[in-house]
Amino acid sequence: KKFIIDPMDLSVEEIDDLIALANDIIKDRTRYQDVCAHKILATLFFEPSTRTRLSFESAMLSLGGKVLGFPTANVSSASKGETVSDTIHVVSGYCDIIAMRHPKEGAPVVASSTCTVPLINAGDGGHNHPTQTLTDLLTIQREKGTLKNLTVGFCGDLKFGRTVHSLLKAMSRYEGTKFVFISPDELKLPEYLKEDILDPMGIEYKEVRSMEEVMPELDILYMTRVQQERFFNEQDYIRLRDTYILDEEKLQAAKKDMIIMHPLPRVNEIKTEVDADPRAAYFRQAHNGRFIRMALILSLLGLQNEVERL
Ligand code: CP
Repeated sequence: KKFIIDPMDLSVEEIDDLIALANDIIKDRTRYQDVCAHKILATLFFEPSTRTRLSFESAMLSLGGKVLGFPTANVSSASKGETVSDTIHVVSGYCDIIAMRHPKEGAPVVASSTCTVPLINAGDGGHNHPTQTLTDLLTIQREKGTLKNLTVGFCGDLKFGRTVHSLLKAMSRYEGTKFVFISPDELKLPEYLKEDILDPMGIEYKEVRSMEEVMPELDILYMTRVQQERFFNEQDYIRLRDTYILDEEKLQAAKKDMIIMHPLPRVNEIKTEVDADPRAAYFRQAHNGRFIRMALILSLLGLQNEVERL
């Protein structure tokens, strides 16, 4: 596959292969340290990022490759009015693979029209974030030992949260998945995801307002930040931002083996006292991002079996 724009661009079998490769890399990453020698990754981020950009760069450097990119969009020629398709057309000639983030939904589809190297969507508006999904799936597999028969509670901003939209699509394909959507009315899951994914696939789900009422039934609690940058109205953001705050008291009702995930960054929605709880998986999740991105880069460059030959 050349372009990874939506999590559905990868089959379940391809995802399982990437998870297996990432687990092998975690076991002994020194075996992979030269596989991408002479390869260049471009990270084109038109929107802020810490984890995604730096874990992509760390992934390529850990494979022996090189990275290039601009630190913020305002130092690129996008600030002079250059289109995404022209930028990608040009940068395709400077590198072997591109990871791009853009605030506009659909920007990676536009980019793919002129891109001549593998292209990875590193987040487009409130739409998709497929490599966060791969990070999440690797984390779930490592923490729970399976991706099947799990009840996943998504909590917070389910309207704008692209990590929720992408993980929902991917998890819907694993047998026995059930979803619980916990949000205020204003931040409910978009209808198109119910109509296009959940209903046709016959996925069991419910929508609730209260985190407490569903806590005991969850295998995974996936907390999210209320996405200030996607609100049109500051007053609405201020009113909604602290709707859910997870603390140790609320966790007393949770299963002993439930895991707490969060794509990060967090603002207020998980108290720092929760960090010491063994069920808090979100920093392990962030670290897994480097290894699954190493696996994805290898796979897109066709180098996944190269380590055996080195
Ligand atoms: N999870 C995530 O996408 O984090 P960044 O915005 O820091 O990349």
